[in-house]
Amino acid sequence: MSSTVVVGLQWGDEGKGKIADYLAASADLVVRFNGGNNAGHTVIVDNKTYRFHLLPCGVISGKRVLIGSGVVLDPSVTLSEIDSLKSLGIQVNLGIDYKTHIITPYHRILDKLEDSVQGKRGAGSTRSGIAPAYADKYARVGIRFEDLINKYLIKKKMEFAYKRVKKLLSLYPIKETSEFKDFSKEYIEYGTKLKKYGSDVSAEVNEAIDNGKSVLFEAAQGALLDIDHGVYPFCTSSSVIAGGVCTGVGLSPKKIGKIIGVVKAYTSRVGNGPLPTELPKKQANYIRNKGSEYGTTTGRPRRIGWLDLVAVKYACRLNGVDEIALTKIDTLSGIHKIKACIAYEYKGKTLTSYPSQPSILSQCVPIYKEFSGWGLNQGIKSFEQLDSNCKEYINFISDFCQVPVSIISLGPRREETIKA
Ligand code: IMP
Repeated sequence: MSSTVVVGLQWGDEGKGKIADYLAASADLVVRFNGGNNAGHTVIVDNKTYRFHLLPCGVISGKRVLIGSGVVLDPSVTLSEIDSLKSLGIQVNLGIDYKTHIITPYHRILDKLEDSVQGKRGAGSTRSGIAPAYADKYARVGIRFEDLINKYLIKKKMEFAYKRVKKLLSLYPIKETSEFKDFSKEYIEYGTKLKKYGSDVSAEVNEAIDNGKSVLFEAAQGALLDIDHGVYPFCTSSSVIAGGVCTGVGLSPKKIGKIIGVVKAYTSRVGNGPLPTELPKKQANYIRNKGSEYGTTTGRPRRIGWLDLVAVKYACRLNGVDEIALTKIDTLSGIHKIKACIAYEYKGKTLTSYPSQPSILSQCVPIYKEFSGWGLNQGIKSFEQLDSNCKEYINFISDFCQVPVSIISLGPRREETIKA
């Protein structure tokens, strides 16, 4: 059996896309199981930059890519990603589970309204309609891919959604009248175009694993944004952690092989919520600009902090991580002193593990270990060739989390990756 899960161990944007692309080379199937087009992956291959929001990265390597039922799918984004890949000469071999829930413009409108009403109290959503789409799924009034591809059903369901949301809109002080209309016609067209991609993803994945094929599961977002175990309510609405593969695809936990956690050498997050290691403006700006830390989906500047190892260790526990892929070591090169948080101080006490209550986290002050900085030469091909200070930082991460660092990313390109 060969199945590998790639998950983010921070607040998303850890570089999962690049690592998934690197691992996709040896996979037969690449599968997404959570989130939607709130995600953003950037992959650079042969000097071409590919930006994805929804399709699994494996599509660039020509792999069969699948979208599981745990995803919420925006049909217009799906179609435009398919079109842009085709225009680059890439064959799209895609399967979408019939049970996958669909994002409609009504979800986007509600997401935007709710986000503006919540302001700083809310998560700072990407406004892609994610939370309202999952809310409808759990309220059992959602629209699924099987409905979208049935002309009769999608018309009925979109008309019903229109009437329902019209009532809901009256609850908000701001009216979205110009954006709000009956979208059933557009959705009938989307369904016609997407019909050929329908699949029973659970059956496909189980069969592949049973036949000894290699399956890569690609998570969106990061563990600290998980709906159950993240920093609620400053999180997303899906199950982001490795366990989400089981429900988001329809796979037994017994069939999950290796779990690779992706960690960025420092911290970033978009949106609101406590971030104990957040850096002051000047230092944050330096790292943000060097690391191009702007949201792939929204373009928002990401908040920047030192690496929070207490948070990463918590994420290792949630996911049962076997190996760490460490990214963006290059962004920190040239900085004289680098810090990593190894504990928190909370009301005069030292906390060595991540508090399960966000109200405590917001009052935690980081306790740091300081490291001497490093430089990075061109063309490094092995761990041994790295600067000794850089090796010390990597070894410390591995010892602290008690998980080996097996992959190190030294730049955005596929070839700027080494095995430790
Ligand atoms: P939503 O998922 O759009 O509802 O946004 C909820 C929170 O998760 C916000 O703070 C977003 O900025 C954050 N978020 C959602 N997707 C991503 C991602 O792919 N990377 C980083 N942050 C994300």
